[in-house]
Amino acid sequence: MIKADGKVFFLNTKSTTYAFRVMETGQLEHMYYGRLINCDEPSVLKEKRAFAPGNTITYDDAHQDLTLEDVRLELSAIGKGDLREPMLEVVCADGSTSLDFVYDSYEVISGKPEFKTLPSSYDESGKVETLNVTMKDKNHGFTLILSYSVFEECDVITRSAKFINTSDESVRLTRMLSMLMDYDHPGMKITSFHGGWTREMNKSDIVLPAGKFVNASFTGTSSNRCNPLFMISEPDSCEESGDVWGFNLLYSGNHYSATEVSSFKKTRVVYGINPQNFAWDLAAGEEFEAPEAVLTYSAAGFRQMSLNMHDFVREHITRGPWKKKERPVLINSWEASYFDFTEGSLLKLAKTAKNAGAELFVMDDGWFGDRNDDHRALGDWDIVNKKKLPGGLEGLSKKVNDLGLMFGLWVEPEMINVDSELYRKHPDWAIDIPNMDHSEGRFQRLLDLCNPEVVDYMIDRMSEVFSTPGLSYIKWDMNRNFSDYYSKYLPADKQLEVSHRYVLGFYRLLKTLAERFPEILMEGCASGGNRFDLGVLCYYPQIWASDNTDAVSRLAIQDGYSYGYPQSTYTAHVSACPNHQTLRVTPLESRFAVASFGVLGYELNLNDMKSEDIAAVKAQIELYKQYRKTLQFGDFYRHRADNIYQWSIVDKDKSTSVSMLMQREIVAGDQYLKLEMAGLDPQTKYHFFGRKLEYNVKGFGDLVNTVSPIHIKQDSLVHNLVAKFVKMPGEIEDYVAYGDTLNSNGVKLVQSFVGTGFNEEVRYFPDFGARLYFVEKAE
Ligand code: GLA
Repeated sequence: MIKADGKVFFLNTKSTTYAFRVMETGQLEHMYYGRLINCDEPSVLKEKRAFAPGNTITYDDAHQDLTLEDVRLELSAIGKGDLREPMLEVVCADGSTSLDFVYDSYEVISGKPEFKTLPSSYDESGKVETLNVTMKDKNHGFTLILSYSVFEECDVITRSAKFINTSDESVRLTRMLSMLMDYDHPGMKITSFHGGWTREMNKSDIVLPAGKFVNASFTGTSSNRCNPLFMISEPDSCEESGDVWGFNLLYSGNHYSATEVSSFKKTRVVYGINPQNFAWDLAAGEEFEAPEAVLTYSAAGFRQMSLNMHDFVREHITRGPWKKKERPVLINSWEASYFDFTEGSLLKLAKTAKNAGAELFVMDDGWFGDRNDDHRALGDWDIVNKKKLPGGLEGLSKKVNDLGLMFGLWVEPEMINVDSELYRKHPDWAIDIPNMDHSEGRFQRLLDLCNPEVVDYMIDRMSEVFSTPGLSYIKWDMNRNFSDYYSKYLPADKQLEVSHRYVLGFYRLLKTLAERFPEILMEGCASGGNRFDLGVLCYYPQIWASDNTDAVSRLAIQDGYSYGYPQSTYTAHVSACPNHQTLRVTPLESRFAVASFGVLGYELNLNDMKSEDIAAVKAQIELYKQYRKTLQFGDFYRHRADNIYQWSIVDKDKSTSVSMLMQREIVAGDQYLKLEMAGLDPQTKYHFFGRKLEYNVKGFGDLVNTVSPIHIKQDSLVHNLVAKFVKMPGEIEDYVAYGDTLNSNGVKLVQSFVGTGFNEEVRYFPDFGARLYFVEKAE
């Protein structure tokens, strides 16, 4: 609910309040963002001032009490005494750079308007309201509209800003961020997510007593170096308690956030498009929209912050027929055979996968042009490799469909290899600087999506590919960071617009195809998670989280995503061992346990697996399908992330829950383990149970001799023979308890193996051991 009177603005969600006011001088003073409060006038919220401190700039002669450097603001530019990070910077026609935006008017509208150039959140509930505050620049007459959309149900407020050149002359924007907000104290904790290829989303916490912390990307994408998602919290906040503010951005290009503690011990946050290598010229009458920033506040720690973000993403970001539809279990050809496949080998893989229960077969890279490695053919989407696929895409699709599987395809539409027919025809379509050496990234270049002709061409090519009969899924990849920024389509004085114009071209391409082919399930990918953000999630509902399929690495990666993204948005595959990215060996069941806490798939040569492993895969897929609705769309809880990782997911109706537990390294003698749970209905009686599994006797090494009547040499023929027929029984966990007990106490599990004996009351739990547990309403 929005309460506004042109002087004071209160934005209330179910449990939060955001408040600001118009100061006597016309600036907007931020007053409060926290728990829901009953407040309709600002006297206790606003800062009181009588004299400005020494060595500061006072706003004007008439206001010697006011220095903008020491006010909590909703927006700030440079030049009028605020020395902190600005939200916007310009160069005016007269060369001046100072702006002075003051309040002009406001409107409250029902609903969530769409953006013109960028993806935006949306509302179908009819409960969202939007406040637009118009600010006028006293110096040059520019207009800035600050927008606030209030999503009551999920405790989210989104912010954005639009700059309109209402002056008579042109202006150059050199920084145009989406939001600015000031806290009244220093020493807050910033939680952000960093990494690189195969190591996305590593959580970092830093407490900021002074100075500045920047969380920004410059890959041209939202990046694996540094995801746009971040949080600000009181330093003692933890999973279940404390004040936490979450931030995210609907933008897939270079992003920037800076958190700065001022000389007056206030903490400022600014957030939006990275101003580095950016400028945008606006002629008189033109406007620029900054991407939408998402804010949520939780008074109950990181857990509630994540639940808010998850609900928001599920309800107001992802869209289309796949929004709430259960996602198919897929088999992907990439780690199964890389570029080396034929129609026959693909069908053999598809057939085995179908028998194991898979629902979708995805042919990854290598199906077009002369693409037998990653040096060539990107761009040649109209040339199917007939040596590999004699019947073309259509032929393979039909045969895959005939097996009873959906058919899916990999594409990388934004890229071009110099060794391609497309480049030979249109060298001017690549982003590179004429007559200069070019840096390379995976032997490929970016297509110039600043050029509308290139976007139109790619819409046509992709429309042909997407029209393949029987095609139900697309994996949309993007495997190169930006370098050699230059669009041959743009004049010299517009080259600083390249990175943002590329993003706008990308969105037009994606949006057109998503709207033209709504039934196709689209999965994003950028060398794994190099473009995992809310902008792309507006068009495709799931993203390949990481090229790293190692179950242990995935713990931190998926745990990281879970802070801001629901599990239906990140995909996770069971792959071969030793793992292709780390060479680590992990049990098949552990790979499954971790992958089933994202959208599950398989990416390995099933035909090379032992028959007992194939049987295990079949059982896994069957189990996953049984709990798929809960696993993909339930509420996600993080419980532990140290040597032991624990997650659980609870169905929205609280009837079912699945928990995952994984151990990285055995700690000798550590025999007791408690499984933590949350989110169950306190008054409901639940049945808690584990899976009944059996283990390979070889896992116990030559301890087999403690029970064997004859001596067995390790790894001998006899040992292998015994292993074939004798299985070690897994532990049984089966209890009934009320939800309040499970939420408060969790479940004390049977003891781990600690070297003193083994039977069905002991958990065989080696390095990288994992378990899934289930909770269902008791009859
Ligand atoms: C990227 C993707 C992989 C795979 C390859 C194909 O690395 O992240 O999943 O599709 O490209 O070239």
